[in-house]
Amino acid sequence: MVSRYFSYLFCGLLALVFRFSTAQTLPGFDFDSACSSIASELSIPNATVFLAQLVPAGTSITFPDSDPTCQPSGSSQLVPEDICRITMFVATSNRSGINMEAWLPRDWTGRFLSTGNGGLAGCIQYADMAYGSALGFATVGANNGHNGTSGRPFLNNADIVEDFAFRSIHTNVLVGKEVTQSFYGTPHTKSYYLGCSTGGRQGLKSVQDFPEDFDGVVAGAAAADWNHLMAWSGNFFLITGPPSAPTFLPINEWTNLVHADILKQCDLIDGVQDGIIEVPDDCNYDPTDLICGSDGGTDCITAEQAETVREVFMPFFINGQLAFPRYQPGAESITSVLLIGGQMFTFTADWFRFVIFNDPNFDVNQLGPSDWALAQELDPFNISTWKGDISAFKNRNGKLITYHGQADPLISPINSERYFNLVSSTMNLSTSQQDDFYRLFRISGMGHCAGGAGAWEIGQTLDGSAENVSAGSLTLDPDRNVLMAVVQWVEEGVAPDTLLGTKFVNDVPSSGVQFSRRHCRFPLKTTFDGSGDSTVPDSWSCQ
Ligand SMILES: *[C@@H]1O[C@H](CO)[C@@H](O)[C@H](O)[C@H]1NC(C)=O
Ligand SMILES: *[C@@H]1O[C@H](CO)[C@@H](O)[C@H](O)[C@H]1NC(C)=O
Ligand SMILES: *[C@@H]1O[C@H](CO)[C@@H](O)[C@H](O)[C@H]1NC(C)=O
Ligand SMILES: *[C@@H]1O[C@H](CO)[C@@H](O)[C@H](O)[C@H]1NC(C)=O
Ligand SMILES: *[C@@H]1O[C@H](CO)[C@@H](O)[C@H](O)[C@H]1NC(C)=O
Ligand SMILES: *[C@@H]1O[C@H](CO)[C@@H](O)[C@H](O)[C@H]1NC(C)=O
Repeated sequence: MVSRYFSYLFCGLLALVFRFSTAQTLPGFDFDSACSSIASELSIPNATVFLAQLVPAGTSITFPDSDPTCQPSGSSQLVPEDICRITMFVATSNRSGINMEAWLPRDWTGRFLSTGNGGLAGCIQYADMAYGSALGFATVGANNGHNGTSGRPFLNNADIVEDFAFRSIHTNVLVGKEVTQSFYGTPHTKSYYLGCSTGGRQGLKSVQDFPEDFDGVVAGAAAADWNHLMAWSGNFFLITGPPSAPTFLPINEWTNLVHADILKQCDLIDGVQDGIIEVPDDCNYDPTDLICGSDGGTDCITAEQAETVREVFMPFFINGQLAFPRYQPGAESITSVLLIGGQMFTFTADWFRFVIFNDPNFDVNQLGPSDWALAQELDPFNISTWKGDISAFKNRNGKLITYHGQADPLISPINSERYFNLVSSTMNLSTSQQDDFYRLFRISGMGHCAGGAGAWEIGQTLDGSAENVSAGSLTLDPDRNVLMAVVQWVEEGVAPDTLLGTKFVNDVPSSGVQFSRRHCRFPLKTTFDGSGDSTVPDSWSCQ
């Protein structure tokens, strides 16, 4: 315990050197006066600057004007380091545009960072803005072309769909780089991206279609193969039926009965009984044992319900064609009512109502295979984000890190393996050739982007509080921070072989570390040595 503490401290000191070794501002640069004059000095076509304001470290910003569905948790965001906050609007057409912000830190490392979005949302992710700027990046975020979490703004406005598909991030990056240069008086050195879910898709989109935008990209749990994902998510309603149907299982039966049975069959495949299925690809679950005997009983399900369970864990086909991988066993522990709660998945409903059919009265309960096929055919603005040729990004020495929680209850983690394999087959790369610029990490026991029973904290996000920040959830150590890992890969050529994940006690950093595990890169498996203490990283290796 003590030695682990000291090794963190030591890594932390190294990381500080790493961080500040690249500070870029010119002699005579005055941060405070730059912040007071930038608003009047900026002249960017199609852009209107609303505000440029110095925000001292420790301030909690509130967002009274932002859409209620976009409010950060707790309605405010702590800013850990001094920043100049700039807010603006940039038109993307005569009927669309992005609200964007740049958070420019006093202690600038010379690096630029774009954050992403989530779901269908038009919400700037302020926690990510605070995180990036606290790590010394000139950080930008945009509202994805609309406000709020609903898909309704897409109705009758394809320009807003276009912003959502790719244009918000791309515009944000072009303008953000210009703002950064005007502010500091010198251009950024390297450009990075950090996002998860829809944010993961946005990262892959940039790699595929805007290879000049970033030198390093971290794309988590990417909502890639978007049209098939929308169909797969909607199709669960066709499997479960509504709560009144004999095929339906209430959520607690998934999280208790089914989950316990899955652990019984699969937890020990990795040699450790810890509630974490290290590699769920290896779990072929059969729910037969859960079916009630002839004498009935309570801790059991009907044969019809067992069929539902089987189908939920099966790959998804549209008209006989494989369209999306299966739901992964293990995910049912933190399963989402959104997918298997007995109604059409909200995002799928909004996507079909407001984009595919452009009809707010369309009855989403009627969606089925022909609609899934139509969406794939339309593929609005190439939102599928499924291009296997990313040679332009590779050729300019870009580095891509993807990660995916193996207990992700919203996007099957196999999707990230599929994309990894699509790139190698399209570009005809051997595993070691692909390793040179693109690595995938499977994070066991992690849910959708965060949370779960595993060692899921890999520096992908900031826990909001000052208490958490000082307790160590803000680390610059590339071994434990996926964003700093891509920085080290880009700037020093040192690629991450593993990501060291941390599980804090009750997920509260100030309560201390419960255990850590090194997550291996695909296709290697994180493998227990069979005898050591399974909570210690050295008891596992990559096989
Ligand atoms: C979106 O929200 C921002 C504030 O976050 C506001 O300035 C802007 O006017 C809103 N846009 C629309 C179209 O409502
Ligand atoms: C400004 O926006 C218009 C669309 O309204 C677009 O055609 C034009 O290219 C934009 N200008 C720049 C410099 O981005
Ligand atoms: C907006 O721009 C489109 C072309 O991008 C054009 O067809 C349309 O007439 C313009 N509308 C207005 C009101 O200027
Ligand atoms: C979609 O991508 C294809 C192939 O890269 C391209 O030819 C087409 O113009 C794109 N469509 C849109 C709407 O961007
Ligand atoms: C794929 O790469 C291998 C070895 O690098 C080469 O022999 C083969 O011809 C390539 N195939 C194609 C289709 O490019
Ligand atoms: C610290 O982070 C955890 C995990 O995200 C969160 O549950 C907790 O509320 C945070 N602590 C405070 C004081 O905000």
